[in-house]
Amino acid sequence: MKKKILMTPGPTQVPPEVLTASSRPVIHHRTREYSELFARVIDGLKYVFRTDNDVLVFASSGTGAMESAVVNLCSPGDKVIVTACGKFGERWQQMAEAFGLDAVVLSYEYGTAVDPGDVARALADNRDASVVFTTHSETSTGVVNDIEAIGGIVAESDAVLVVDAVSGLGSAELNTDDWQVDVVVAGSQKALMIPPGLAFAAVSDKAWDLVERSRLPKYYFDWQKARDGVRRDDPTTPYTPAVSLTVALDAALQLIREEGIEAVIDRHRRLGRASREAVKALGLELFSPDDDACSSVTAVKVPEGVEDSELRRLMRDEYGVQCAGGQGSMKGKIFRIGHCGYYNYADIVATITALEQALNDLEYPVELGRGVARVVEVFGEDAS
Ligand SMILES: Cc1ncc(COP(=O)(O)O)c(C=O)c1O
Repeated sequence: MKKKILMTPGPTQVPPEVLTASSRPVIHHRTREYSELFARVIDGLKYVFRTDNDVLVFASSGTGAMESAVVNLCSPGDKVIVTACGKFGERWQQMAEAFGLDAVVLSYEYGTAVDPGDVARALADNRDASVVFTTHSETSTGVVNDIEAIGGIVAESDAVLVVDAVSGLGSAELNTDDWQVDVVVAGSQKALMIPPGLAFAAVSDKAWDLVERSRLPKYYFDWQKARDGVRRDDPTTPYTPAVSLTVALDAALQLIREEGIEAVIDRHRRLGRASREAVKALGLELFSPDDDACSSVTAVKVPEGVEDSELRRLMRDEYGVQCAGGQGSMKGKIFRIGHCGYYNYADIVATITALEQALNDLEYPVELGRGVARVVEVFGEDAS
């Protein structure tokens, strides 16, 4: 028997209560039972997004929600501002190109954060820009951007702010309404603790004004149709929803409510801090910033003389812990420990133990137990 734990930044571990819920017999979606379930889910999502705005639900991966934002907010040739500090920021750039938008791109070296001052300057220089697309938790590097600052800046302009929080929602702080974020897109397979397959978009009134003027083609992802469904007294979706995933989400949202969203974010801060401290104690170098805001993913530089794929293979096959590699230009140079979602102290202990053992097998000099001792200390400090 080989037991494996998933420590990747999506998909993530799914709690047993949620797995059990998703295996219930499928119900029909045009029923009162489904509408009541869907109403509860929308309510729970608003709680996690910290918003009173409409929250729309689609059966797709997170990228679908990103694409839905582009096609519902933009018209051909529109000028938009895109920040790209990693692979997922670059995805906004690629989408802007794919849909024929005129994108002003603010690019940053992988591992660094977006400078909100650059967004202010770009808006001042491009007063005709209608949308700013940015990323909350940049999963490819572990950086979490200062969305509060960016929100304050964009709110002073006519532009609409769209934030990709696919990995950050529910694991790093994000106050949609207080931070004046017009659109937040997210996915199901990260801190929302269910399998892949659902995507979400929270949409403000300022954004709805733009939606009404948008001329890019859309059909399945038409936000106005989705809005008509969620605003009904018996809320529904225009097309067949992913019923079992919605049932799973209902159970997951219940767990989040029981813990409380502030406590959930605090738990993630602790998971991030313990991971970073352990990595440093082992003499490895962090790639993601050594910053409590970075609570979704910990990115670590692959040490000199160690083959990344072999390190992760050993961690997975010999010690039962699956981490993620680097993406794009970071492939082979970093590995990533995902801790967004259903994670606790024991998961970090297991991960750091596996890392120590795998490094030791590869004859990289580590003092076995040193990283784990640091994890214990960090959790002890927090408990006191
Ligand atoms: C920040 C971010 N944006 C977008 C995506 C894309 O989501 P999906 O793979 O669900 O389409 C991911 C997935 O890892 C992500 O982490």
